[in-house]
Amino acid sequence: MKYTRIAGTGGFLPEKVLTNHDLEEMVDTSDEWIVDRTGIRKRHIAADDETTCDLAEQAARRAMSAAGKEAHDIDLVIVATTTPDQIFPSTACLLQQRLGIRGCAAFDVQAVCTGFVYALGIADNFIRTGSARCALIVGAETLSRIVDWTDRDTCVLFGDGAGAVIVEASSEPGIISSHLHADGKYAELLQVPAGVSSGLSQLADAGAFIEMRGNEVFKMAVTTLGRIVDETLGHNGMNKSDIDWLIPHQANIRIIKATARKLRMPMDHVVVTVDEHGNTSAASVPLALDEAVRSGRIKRGETLLLEAFGGGFTWGSVLLKY
Ligand code: UT7
Repeated sequence: MKYTRIAGTGGFLPEKVLTNHDLEEMVDTSDEWIVDRTGIRKRHIAADDETTCDLAEQAARRAMSAAGKEAHDIDLVIVATTTPDQIFPSTACLLQQRLGIRGCAAFDVQAVCTGFVYALGIADNFIRTGSARCALIVGAETLSRIVDWTDRDTCVLFGDGAGAVIVEASSEPGIISSHLHADGKYAELLQVPAGVSSGLSQLADAGAFIEMRGNEVFKMAVTTLGRIVDETLGHNGMNKSDIDWLIPHQANIRIIKATARKLRMPMDHVVVTVDEHGNTSAASVPLALDEAVRSGRIKRGETLLLEAFGGGFTWGSVLLKY
């Protein structure tokens, strides 16, 4: 049996930090409200000349170094992002060129906050069917470029960053299962209503900003993530107690705690980084994974549940042995 195993992880956050106190100077909000309602204390913001590919490159180099892989070892590149550098080429192609990787398939995945989980599920299928042996998977975002910094409902929530993993074919488990879903009926609850086909002039004139009906998204996130926990465990005939670590999408500590309760998982086995960088969309799960791996908390052989929920709506999970 062939499995897809994580060989190395990497993460990168831009240097500039925006604290809740900084935001108090920009909109009608308070550190107390933001911490209480979201768990976020600060977020990182890309410099004016720093792009999604720049962040992705740093995270990718760290993951390659952790895995002991060179450019010529990699035969698949997937970048999950909602904030690509250009309309085309894809950020994956730009990254491939930066890293000196030649000839293999490289493409972007757009599933907003679930993008990394989607990309990992896709890479698992490539590897298990023999179409790839060693893949670079990156979640990278410069969300600060699509945040309306005058809208207190959304601007306190998001930040920039990148996380990456190298996965490779192995006879040892490995990814056990992935579960990917979407329901476009909820598109209007969380969106950036501008784009190439519907009118780029909106971008230039009014700006293209994240719009969210936060409370409705919150409720859907809690119930949907509860369901995906049941689906993932049921599919594998596993019990809640079989999971060693929950690595959730980092959007809101209250959503994370609700999923942990569903799993009866003590919070010291839930990886929480939302306080450090806010919601970095596709970057959030790999950033959390990298933090827990590098701090030595997650050990080889432990069972991890990765999950995410985001615009679309999209949602999904990956269950794996690290
Ligand atoms: O990653 C993709 C998925 N995204 C998410 O998972 C985000 C999901 N949503 C959330 O995390 C939460 O809904 C928010 C953090 C966005 C909001 O928390 P909430 O507990 O749902 O608050 P609310 O929207 O019901 O607003 C409560 C109050 C309102 O005032 P009134 O109407 O009660 O007087 C808001 O106007 O809080 C007010 N408010 C704020 N106050 C201070 C909203 N934003 C702020 C703010 N500072 N930044």
